[in-house]
Amino acid sequence: MKGPVVVTGASGYVGSWLVMKLLQEGYAVRATVRDPSNQKKVKPLLDLPGSDERLTIWKADLADEGSFDEVIKGCEGVFHIATPMDFDSKDPENEIIKPTINGILSIMRSCKEAGTVKRVVFTSSAGTVNVQEQQLPEYDETWWSDMEFCRRVKMTGWMYFVSKTLAEKAAWEFAEENGIHFISIIPTLVVGPFITTSMPPSMITALSLLTGNEAHYSILKQVQLVHLDDLCDTHIFLYEHPDATGRYICSSHDVTIYQLAKMFKERYPQYKVPQKFEGIDESIASVHFSSKKLMELGYKFKYSMEDMFDSAIESCLEKGLIPLQTVEEEQGSEVVKKAVDVAAERLNEQSVLIA
Ligand SMILES: NC(=O)c1ccc[n+]([C@@H]2O[C@H](COP(=O)([O-])OP(=O)(O)OC[C@H]3O[C@@H](n4cnc5c(N)ncnc54)[C@H](OP(=O)(O)O)[C@@H]3O)[C@@H](O)[C@H]2O)c1
Repeated sequence: MKGPVVVTGASGYVGSWLVMKLLQEGYAVRATVRDPSNQKKVKPLLDLPGSDERLTIWKADLADEGSFDEVIKGCEGVFHIATPMDFDSKDPENEIIKPTINGILSIMRSCKEAGTVKRVVFTSSAGTVNVQEQQLPEYDETWWSDMEFCRRVKMTGWMYFVSKTLAEKAAWEFAEENGIHFISIIPTLVVGPFITTSMPPSMITALSLLTGNEAHYSILKQVQLVHLDDLCDTHIFLYEHPDATGRYICSSHDVTIYQLAKMFKERYPQYKVPQKFEGIDESIASVHFSSKKLMELGYKFKYSMEDMFDSAIESCLEKGLIPLQTVEEEQGSEVVKKAVDVAAERLNEQSVLIA
């Protein structure tokens, strides 16, 4: 048996898939959630193959100092995935930014205390890299988002970008000062199947062209993508690789909203997909997130963009989270509208005749 390893945020989209993959790889997994009694969130984990023998569920909260002490004691590795993500928070400093930074530092202190942890893998975010006034054509791991720009402009999700950036920087400092082997993985927008019962946050964005959720179109303007399974395999690959060190971008595709809309229209004709986007130039170029460092270490991405969306849509349909189609409903309502118009016209003619 490998491990034991800790996975924080285990009931989330990425966390639950990683728990599944670690169990498949023969690891003993300690999964942390905020509320172990929440069956809706915990049951998908307990139903995983291997869970009876090798999975335990632990209660821990990033907002509580020392909350991870017990679960980390005696572990050989930690995958820190949990993060608060409420973009509508009324108090972002206290509800998002502080718990994210204090939470990772609390986890690092627990690792130091335990003395058994060989490696900490942190799931960072593209939001720590390219949130800047001007987009560059290409990004690598040397870039950091501009905190002054985030706090000044307060764009959608600004508190998430600030929280992840400051948390990652604080963790690097702690790791260097205390000799902890720390690795960060920088995923772009994660798309793919899922075992959670509710709609994962990133799927709301990724499928917004199908659901008509226009508030998310700006995020898709120049977007980079990675398949959930590739991301979780990367976590295990880097955790196990003796030469893994530093930050690693994990991203396999760069697209623009126009390219996505065209792919959706051709591949999923049952959905009504917009092809024009106000305020976004049709000739806009994609922005490249380079996974060169990860690939040079030997990781090979397995999935195409079509794989990501096919499986994401399938999971959503299975769980009833998106409509089966939007085109026929629309066509249907056109047909109904026409029928009503014709009926009204006939009624008029009849009224004329009667008169
Ligand atoms: N999905 C993406 O596109 C994407 C892209 C880049 C980076 N990431 C990173 O990947 C990680 C996972 O994201 P996700 O997409 O899986 O989101 P998710 O489904 O919302 O999962 C987030 C998890 O964090 C936990 N959490 C929130 N606040 C917490 C707190 N105060 N203490 C302990 N746990 C807390 C939640 O636990 P509860 O179940 O207890 O609520 C939830 O399981 C995050 O670190 C995120 O920054 C994701």
